[in-house]
Amino acid sequence: MSIPKPGRVVLLASAAAAVVVAASVAVIGPADAASTLGASAAQTGRYFGAAIAAGKLGDGTYTGILNREFNSVTPENEMKWDATEPSQGRFTFTNGDRILNQGISMGAKIRGHALLWHQQQPSWAQGLSGSALRNAAINHVTQVATHYKGKIYAWDVVNEAFADGGSGGRRDSNLQRTGNDWIEAAFRAARAADPAAKLCYNDYNTDGVNAKSTGVYNMVRDFKSRGVPIDCVGFQSHLGTSIPGDYQANLQRFADLGVEVQITELDVAQGGNQANVYAAVTRACMAVSRCGGITVWGIRDSDSWRTGENPLLFDSSGNKKAAYTSVLNALNAGGPTNPTTPPTTVPTTPPTTSPTSNPPSGACAASITLNSWNGGYVANIRVTAGSAAVNGWTVTVALPSGSAVTNTWSATNSATTGTVSFRNVSYNGQIPAGGNAEFGFQGTGAGPTATPTCSAG
Ligand code: G3I
Repeated sequence: MSIPKPGRVVLLASAAAAVVVAASVAVIGPADAASTLGASAAQTGRYFGAAIAAGKLGDGTYTGILNREFNSVTPENEMKWDATEPSQGRFTFTNGDRILNQGISMGAKIRGHALLWHQQQPSWAQGLSGSALRNAAINHVTQVATHYKGKIYAWDVVNEAFADGGSGGRRDSNLQRTGNDWIEAAFRAARAADPAAKLCYNDYNTDGVNAKSTGVYNMVRDFKSRGVPIDCVGFQSHLGTSIPGDYQANLQRFADLGVEVQITELDVAQGGNQANVYAAVTRACMAVSRCGGITVWGIRDSDSWRTGENPLLFDSSGNKKAAYTSVLNALNAGGPTNPTTPPTTVPTTPPTTSPTSNPPSGACAASITLNSWNGGYVANIRVTAGSAAVNGWTVTVALPSGSAVTNTWSATNSATTGTVSFRNVSYNGQIPAGGNAEFGFQGTGAGPTATPTCSAG
């Protein structure tokens, strides 16, 4: 991707008071107008991205457009739960890594999509409930965000958790039934695993001011007030033949909560108005300084999940459509520059790992890696077998006063405070000689400081 020419930057000042206004506006004259979507968006500090599929990366027309036009990529399916953890505790990152490497090769931002969603769960997770599901879900967030640590610009941590219709409440799902705090638990685990990634909540039919978007708004406001780590909200924007009249106002009210807003899955039904709707969405993002960028949900019409609706910017042969030109013009018209805001809540201490001793034959040892932030932590514990296999294990952890376990994955805990014993679950009790198993827990307060002890059997 070529490096864009910076636009002419003009600082606005109040004529009356001659006070410099904090925002800068990139005014892009004809000589500066960029000729691709990504380069044009970059002139105001934004990105223009596409959802892409690993299975299409061998198609030269597809990758030609991708490499030329976009400076952000989102995996359409490859980082979802069913793709990355097809059986419990066994992670498959092959196709997700192909998307990642494509994005890296382009110098693009990579949006991770999606850590937890009621759809596209692997069948084993669909069959879980209660604490077993909660633990599996938090473990999934931790493992996937850890695998991609430092490489993801923004993660859709939770996708589509609010109900359609007028309730403004949560959608019923197996995840919701694990307790209303499942979303914040997921965000805390994601932050602990990858402190540099912006953490987003992503949903559809939230594109105007309505009961559903207000439900999300209230959750984000609550998270910000309680210090739950959230940095961005994704507005999918799967649109028909019109755009809600309060689309920009809706983006702005979320931005005013202090989060970045992103258009995450844009596509628009083909019809007389398609180019106008695309332009209106682009202008709205350009007008909101905290709108970080736009992602279209596919490249050519033939790549779209909306079969037969031709909702994208390129036709099935890869030619630019009228909608493409309207988007490019709206990007080139400029707007307030997007401030690059890093994630706001980062762990206050770097991760620490306790030493592992060499356990004697038939015994086990445990080491702990702790990611802490102000008020909470995630602990990952590695259980190592000695020179003989272990059949069952219990790890004992001393929690400091005021510390309490809120979630455990890949183990069961005897208590939530004080001295807590963690017992293996069915699939990780047997460890071959010299092998290891891992489990983890999340807690409030300060994390444990003493090395845990392990007993086998
Ligand atoms: O890969 C298999 C293939 O091997 C098999 O032959 C074929 C038979 O049906 O299925 C293929 O998997 C499909 C996959 O797309 C890849 O094409 C799945 O069945 C299909 O369910 C899946 O659909 C995806 C959908 O999410 C799942 O709900 C769409 O591609 C994807 O565009 C869509 O994206 C979602 C976002 O993640 C969240 N927001 C809404 C958006 C649109 O639904």
